[in-house]
Amino acid sequence: MNRKQDDIYTIGFVQAMTTDNWRKEMNRAMQVEASMHPGFNLVIKDAQNDVARQIKQIEEFISEDVDILIVSPIQSVPITPVVEKAMNAGIPTIVIDRKIDGSNYTAYVGANNVEIGKNAANYIVSNSDQNQELKLVEITGLQTSSPAFERSQGFQEVLANHENINIVATIAGDWEKTSVGNHLGSILDSVESIDYIFAHNDRMAMGAWEMARSKNLEDSIQIIGVDGLFGPSGGIQLVKEGILTATVLYPTGGAEAIKLAIQLLEGDQIAKNNLLNTVVIDKLNVDIMQNQFNKMNQQQNDIEQQQTVIKEQVITYNSQSNLLKIMAGLILLLLLLGTWAVYLVFKLKKRKRILELNNAKIITQRNQIEKFAEQLKISNEVKINFFTALSHEFKTPLTLITSAIESIAQNPHKQLKEFAYETNLISKNSGRLLRLINELLDFRKLESGNFYLKPLKTNLYEFIRNIYEDFQSEALRKSIDLKLEADNKGLMVYVDRNMMDKVFFNMLSNAFKFTPKNGKVIISIKENGQEKVDVLFNDSGIGIPKEDFQKIFDPFRQAGNNTKPSSGLGLYITRKFVELHKGNISVSSHQGAEFKIELLQGKKHLSEYKVSEKDLKLQQEESEKLLDSNFIPEELPEPINENTETILIIEDNEDLSYLLKKRLLAEYNVELSDGSDAIEKALAIIPDVIICDIHLPEKNGFEICNELKSDLRTSHIPTLILTALSDKESKIKALRAGADTYISKPFNFEILKESLRTALFNREKLRYYYTNKIDQVKDNAFEDSEQTFLKKLNHIIEKNLKSTGFNVEDLAQQMEISRVQLYRKVKAIMGISISDYINSQRLSKAKSLLQETHLNISEIAYEVGYTSPGYFSTSFKNKYGSTPKQFRN
Ligand code: FRU
Repeated sequence: MNRKQDDIYTIGFVQAMTTDNWRKEMNRAMQVEASMHPGFNLVIKDAQNDVARQIKQIEEFISEDVDILIVSPIQSVPITPVVEKAMNAGIPTIVIDRKIDGSNYTAYVGANNVEIGKNAANYIVSNSDQNQELKLVEITGLQTSSPAFERSQGFQEVLANHENINIVATIAGDWEKTSVGNHLGSILDSVESIDYIFAHNDRMAMGAWEMARSKNLEDSIQIIGVDGLFGPSGGIQLVKEGILTATVLYPTGGAEAIKLAIQLLEGDQIAKNNLLNTVVIDKLNVDIMQNQFNKMNQQQNDIEQQQTVIKEQVITYNSQSNLLKIMAGLILLLLLLGTWAVYLVFKLKKRKRILELNNAKIITQRNQIEKFAEQLKISNEVKINFFTALSHEFKTPLTLITSAIESIAQNPHKQLKEFAYETNLISKNSGRLLRLINELLDFRKLESGNFYLKPLKTNLYEFIRNIYEDFQSEALRKSIDLKLEADNKGLMVYVDRNMMDKVFFNMLSNAFKFTPKNGKVIISIKENGQEKVDVLFNDSGIGIPKEDFQKIFDPFRQAGNNTKPSSGLGLYITRKFVELHKGNISVSSHQGAEFKIELLQGKKHLSEYKVSEKDLKLQQEESEKLLDSNFIPEELPEPINENTETILIIEDNEDLSYLLKKRLLAEYNVELSDGSDAIEKALAIIPDVIICDIHLPEKNGFEICNELKSDLRTSHIPTLILTALSDKESKIKALRAGADTYISKPFNFEILKESLRTALFNREKLRYYYTNKIDQVKDNAFEDSEQTFLKKLNHIIEKNLKSTGFNVEDLAQQMEISRVQLYRKVKAIMGISISDYINSQRLSKAKSLLQETHLNISEIAYEVGYTSPGYFSTSFKNKYGSTPKQFRN
C-alpha cells in the first residue's frame, strides 16, 4: 500500500479487554510506538471481554474505513467472520495474541504458544529426576481462545514422552485468578503431594499459590506461570519473591504490531506470521531479566519523557508557528498598509504638487493678466492720446479753411481773384488734410500687414531730385539752403516708387519743419560698398535728444523735442516703407538731425515681389502737387498808427498767423512770433494783448503765458490762448498759467475779435480803477502783480519826491526795467505817461501837505520837488482847479 501524501493514517485497534496489566502493557507499547511516527493516528477501542461488543467495534472501524485494523480477539470462532469482513472491505487486518479461526488475515503477531507450553514442560523435565514420579496440575486459559489450546498442546506433547510425569488434573480457567480457586482446592485436598502446577498465565499462577498457601503447601508445590510481566505484581517480581518457580515470557507484541502496520501502510512487504521470542525466567536469570526490564523500562520512560517533551515542543512549535503565521500575516498586512500609506502619501504629495503648480500657474496667469491689463491700459491711453493729438492735427487746417471761407463770404462784392490768398489757403490746407488722411490709411494698411511692393527699376538721383525740386520754393520762402548731392547720379535701385516718394517727401517735410529761417537742409546719396546705398537728410534744426532716437518712429509716442504739430505717423510710415524694402532707417543728432536711409542695391532681396525692369519716366503724384505751394503771400501793410493797440500773435503755423494778421490789421497793430522768440518779443514791445498758441517749437503756450504773467513788465497784458486742444484739463492749465481767455480751434473769427475787444475793455476798466484809486493802492487789501508793481513804483517815487532832478530814467533804473517798458506798463495800466504819473504823485503829496501841515506854499513846492513855486501853483491849479493858496483857504 502506498502512503497517502501529507495524510494521516488511522490505525484502529480493538483490544479484548484492559482489566489486566498485560493488556495495559500491550496498549502502552502500541501508543509509545505510534507516537514515534507522526502521521499515524492510533485509535484503541476496549471490548471489555465482551465478544459482541468486540464485533461491533470492528464493524465501526470498517464503516469508518480505517487504514489498518489490529484485532486481539477475545475468542477465535465468533470473531473470525467480522475480521474476514474487514479483509473483504479492503482493510488490512493484523491479528495479535489470540488467533481467529483459519488464516484470512493480513498478518499475525505473537509468541508461539505451543512453544511456550513446551518450554514450561521442558523446564519441569530438566529440573527433575527421570526416576522420580512427578504429579502435575495444569490450569488452562479460556478454552475457546487459541493460546489456551496451543499452550496445552505444547505442554502435553513434551510430557507424553516422560512416563514418570503425570498430569493429575487439568483445571479449565478463564485467564483470571478467580477461575482457579475452588477446583484447585479440592484437587489439593484429594491428591497428595502435587509437585508442579503449570498455570497458563501469571495471574492464575498467583491464584494457585494463594490456594496452596491456604493449605500450607506453598513450599512443596512449584508453580510455573506465563507472561513474565515486569512490574510490582508482574511475573518477574513473583519469581524474585519465590512465589513462582518460573514464568515463561510472553511478550505483548504491541510495539511490533504497530511497526508492522506502519510498514504495511508505507507499502513494505511483511511476513504473515511474526512470531515473538520467548524465554523461561527462573531464579537463575530473574535478576538479569529484571535489570534488562528496568533498563528497558528506564529507556522506555526516557523515550516517553522525550515524547512528552517533543509533544510539548510540538505544541509550543505549533503555537509559535501559528503565532509566527499570525505575525507574518500581520506583518504582511502592515506592509500592505504601509505600502498603501506610502502610496497615499505619494499620491497626496503629487496632488499637492499639482495643486501648488496649478496655484503658481494661476498666480502667474493672474499677474500676467494684471500686467497685460496694465499694458493694455497704458497702450489704450497712448492710443487715445495719439488719436486725440491726431484729431487736433485736423483742426488747424480746418480753421484755416473755414476762416478763408468766412473771409470770402463776408466780402460778397469782391471778385474771386482778389481772394487768391484765401483760395490758395483752402487748397493747401485741403491738401494737408488729404495727406493726413492718406497717412492714416497707410498706417491702417501697415498695421494690418496689407502692403505689397511693386518694385520698379529707378534712377535714385532722378527720383529724389523730383521731390527735392518740389521743396525748392518753400526753401526760398524760408530762406533755407537746400542742397542735393550724389556721388553716382546713374545709380539704379529697385523701389516701389509710390512708397519711396512718401518716404523722401516725409524726410524733407520733417527737415523743413525743424529747420529755422536761414538754416540748411542737405540731401546726400552715397554708395555704401557694392550692396548698399545711403540717403542722408541733414538739417540744422534743434536736433533730437539721444533718448528719443527710437521713440520718434513710434506712432504713439512723440519725442520730447518735437512740439511742432505732427500726426506722428509720418516717421512711422517712413520706417515701415523702408523696412518693406529690407532697408533701414536711423537717426543721429549733432548740430541738427541726420536721418539715414539704407537701401539695398540689386533685386535679390525683393524676390517675393514682381519686379519690373522698365525704368519708366518719373511722374509726380497729382495729389502731392497740392502740397506744393508756390503762392507767396503779399506784403501786409505797416501798422495803422501809434495810438492803435498792439496785438502780439504767437503762432508757428505761418498760414494761420498770416491770416490772423491780415484780418486784424484793420483795427490793431499786429506783431508776429513763431514761438521761438515769444518772451523777447513781448518784453520788447509790451503789447496790449497777446494771442498765443499752445503747441509751439520751444516753449509751449502754458509756459510762455506763465512767464509773461509772472513778470512785472508784462503781467498786465491780457492773454488769449488759441489752441486745437479743447479738453477741460488744457483750459484749466491755461487759466492757471494766467490766461484771460481760452478759444479752441476751429474758431469763429468774429468770436475771436469780440474776445479781443472784451479783453481790452476789461483792461480799460482796471486802468480806470487804478487811476482813480491811485492813492488807495498802497493800502488796498487785495494784491495782484499790478498792485505789487504800483506799490513799488509809488514807494520809489515818494522816496525821491523831494529830489528835483528825479526823472523817469532814475525811476526805470530803480524799478529794474527799461524806460520803454516802464512807459508802456504805466500807460497800459493807468492810461497816462510815466512823467504825468510822477507829477500827479508830487501834486497829490502837496495836496496832503497843504491840508495837514503849516508849511508855506514855497516850502511845500520844494518838498514835492518843484524848483519854481510859480510852476508848482500853475500845475496844482491845472490838476485840482484851484491854486494851492485857494485850496488851503
Ligand atoms: C491476558 C492474558 C494473558 C495471557 C493471554 C492469552 O488477558 O490472559 O495473561 O497470556 O491473555 O491470550
